[in-house]
Amino acid sequence: MTAASPSEPPALAGGGRPVVITGGSGFIGCNLAESFLRDGYDVVVLDNLSRPGVGQNLEWLKFEFGERIRPVIADIRDPQACRSIFEDAGAVFHLAAQTAVTTSLDDPLGDFAVNAQGTLNLLEAVRASGRTIPVIFASTNKVYGALEDLEMIELEDRYVPASPEIRQGIGEDRKLDFCTPYGCSKGVADQYVLDYAKSFGIPTAVLRMSCIYGPHQYGTEDQGWVAHFLIRALQGEPISIYGNGKQVRDVLHVADAVAAYRAVLENIDAVTGRVFNLGGGVQNAVSLRLVLQEIRRITGAEPLIGWGDWRAGDQYYFVADTTRLQRELGWTAKIGWREGLRDLADWLRRERGLGRPQREERLTA
Ligand SMILES: NC(=O)c1ccc[n+]([C@@H]2O[C@H](COP(=O)([O-])OP(=O)(O)OC[C@H]3O[C@@H](n4cnc5c(N)ncnc54)[C@H](O)[C@@H]3O)[C@@H](O)[C@H]2O)c1
Repeated sequence: MTAASPSEPPALAGGGRPVVITGGSGFIGCNLAESFLRDGYDVVVLDNLSRPGVGQNLEWLKFEFGERIRPVIADIRDPQACRSIFEDAGAVFHLAAQTAVTTSLDDPLGDFAVNAQGTLNLLEAVRASGRTIPVIFASTNKVYGALEDLEMIELEDRYVPASPEIRQGIGEDRKLDFCTPYGCSKGVADQYVLDYAKSFGIPTAVLRMSCIYGPHQYGTEDQGWVAHFLIRALQGEPISIYGNGKQVRDVLHVADAVAAYRAVLENIDAVTGRVFNLGGGVQNAVSLRLVLQEIRRITGAEPLIGWGDWRAGDQYYFVADTTRLQRELGWTAKIGWREGLRDLADWLRRERGLGRPQREERLTA
């Protein structure tokens, strides 16, 4: 074991109590856990390990941080199993979820049980504690719907919104338009989390995220497309593109996302009941085609592509306007998408054996 033991970290709202991260074995949760553990906090990871591959993230955290990481293998759908964990928390980051739109279309009830009911279970456990426990929720830009009303200009390699205002990104004031069962279940959870600040005075905040990518991501065709594309390309396997590949997303490296989550917790008294869009913003707005071009540079080989029909709820364009995060918390994305893609490729080569390592250091925001 190489358990790190830095000097005493600054107290959270809950004093010496642990940071609880649901979905802490998952991609973003594992990176968030690592960040707190490196700073000397104890972290409880609550996860049912249902996402294939994430057990390896948990093993890695245990190896790196020893007893300061406390795994709880439990299901957010089971209120009894989770109650004592939340009641004892210094702060809760809620990331456990059914994360794929495709799965939600196959099984809307299952999706609802995890994402909507599971979130309510968590909020009720926090409320029952009678203590002031901050809850920060990982929501999604899908709550703004497919944005079909936005007029697009189709360029050779990407869509661009006709409106100059929309080109600056989608702000938090955009109307909610839940779309697909995943969008609905996450949207319901998003609204409950905000309401528990209003109705019960629990300090909560919501981050509506664009596409996050980076180390520890077990991306699949159904969720985590940046990692999925790189994994496939490094293995010389074909990548399926649904639609014409001109869809635009503002991709964000997970180290920048972790910095945003931590900034929200540090300022929770000032931002309670608030929602923030979190993404790479205009400077990291890329089409799938652009990412594929960059992957060709990284791997030195032309990726193999298969083409399929558009998928339900797929936005032509989503770029977050992150001005609110910048203005209220001083947060900006620091890692550019090209550099970030290389970092993920290096991690995949080094840690998952998909090719040769090229660089040893890890990026931090
Ligand atoms: N990655 C992104 O680009 C992105 C974008 C928008 C929103 N989000 C949201 O961020 C959160 C984290 O996403 P991620 O990319 O790290 O996904 P992930 O799948 O890697 O992590 C989710 C974790 O939740 C766990 N989990 C699933 N169902 C559970 C249950 N019933 N009980 C307990 N644990 C359960 C999984 O095992 C997994 O470890 C999710 O809530 C997701 O909806 C992610």
